[in-house]
Amino acid sequence: MIRTIEWTDSGVVMLDQRLLPAQEIYNSYTDYRDVAEAIRSMVIRGAPAIGVAAAMGVALGVKMTGAKEIEKLDVEFDRICATLSKTRPTAVNLFWAIERMRAVYARTRSQGFEQISKALIDEARRMHQEDIRANRDMGRYGQELIPDGARILTHCNAGALATAGFGTALGVIRAAVEAGKKVQVFSDETRPLLQGARLTAWELRRDNIPVTVIVDNMAGHFMQKGQVDCVIVGADRIAANGDTANKIGTYTVAVLAREHGVPFYVAAPISTLDLSIPDGGHIPIEERDPDEVRKIQGVPIAPENISAANPAFDVTPHRYVSAIITERGVARAPYETSLRALAYPLSGT
Ligand code: MRU
Repeated sequence: MIRTIEWTDSGVVMLDQRLLPAQEIYNSYTDYRDVAEAIRSMVIRGAPAIGVAAAMGVALGVKMTGAKEIEKLDVEFDRICATLSKTRPTAVNLFWAIERMRAVYARTRSQGFEQISKALIDEARRMHQEDIRANRDMGRYGQELIPDGARILTHCNAGALATAGFGTALGVIRAAVEAGKKVQVFSDETRPLLQGARLTAWELRRDNIPVTVIVDNMAGHFMQKGQVDCVIVGADRIAANGDTANKIGTYTVAVLAREHGVPFYVAAPISTLDLSIPDGGHIPIEERDPDEVRKIQGVPIAPENISAANPAFDVTPHRYVSAIITERGVARAPYETSLRALAYPLSGT
């Protein structure tokens, strides 16, 4: 079991994903501002993991504050939430997690500092456990879509490292293997930060799941050769109509999959749905430092200061998405109704 993030009595502990696969180093955080910086600098990354880290950051900020009197705590709590919410704009799990922590604060506000702090810690730990359970359930539903012997292409890292554990897209693959199916995975290297080559390959190898790393621009070649049976990716935000934001390059893979008649699946928890926005045009796309494009792991590969663009995500229109796998079941088009039915199972709307 990969320990992506953990709440401990002495702080929030995270595996530093910037250093993988060369080094396996755990950092311990005792200041919420450092947790925010860890999210921004991608010590921890992947939408569900970002959500859990933000929740733990809020709990940590309150636990360590000197402002224990309620009016001062109100101001400090807002500051903590604001700092954490400014880290990564695309992953909706970040905002979802902070909203959950706000609700706990509002519910316990009248009960005194110790009770507030304890309730926030409990909630953050609950989110961690719930995420692992959601991934297991997603795996159970999703693996039914994977044929025995499937050659699966994935992009970026939607594995244990991107979640509290087990993974979304990689969780589906793990569940297929647990169900006795033989699979092979193509992992796009995922420029600029190489989550596929560094993280997905590292995770799958640990589990003895056969994985072949390919450069991003090889995906079309292998599909054309008939060597890819399906694509599974994660998501950072899914709009009400099923339009899906995920790591830059996902859209290209989806278009290629359509051209070659390859099913394109998205695996994501309900916490990644943003039903408040009608379509992907409303999803904020994070722009990151152009140096991430000009350099690979700090080594320049382009002329110094050359103009470089670095949108971290793109939006795959819903018409390319064959199904969306969640912990409550598999949604198919029309997504307006199928996603709403999964998100609000009892309302019938
Ligand atoms: O920039 P990153 O590494 O945070 O991007 C991660 C992705 O795009 C993942 O596919 C997505 O967050 C889903 S993780 C289960």
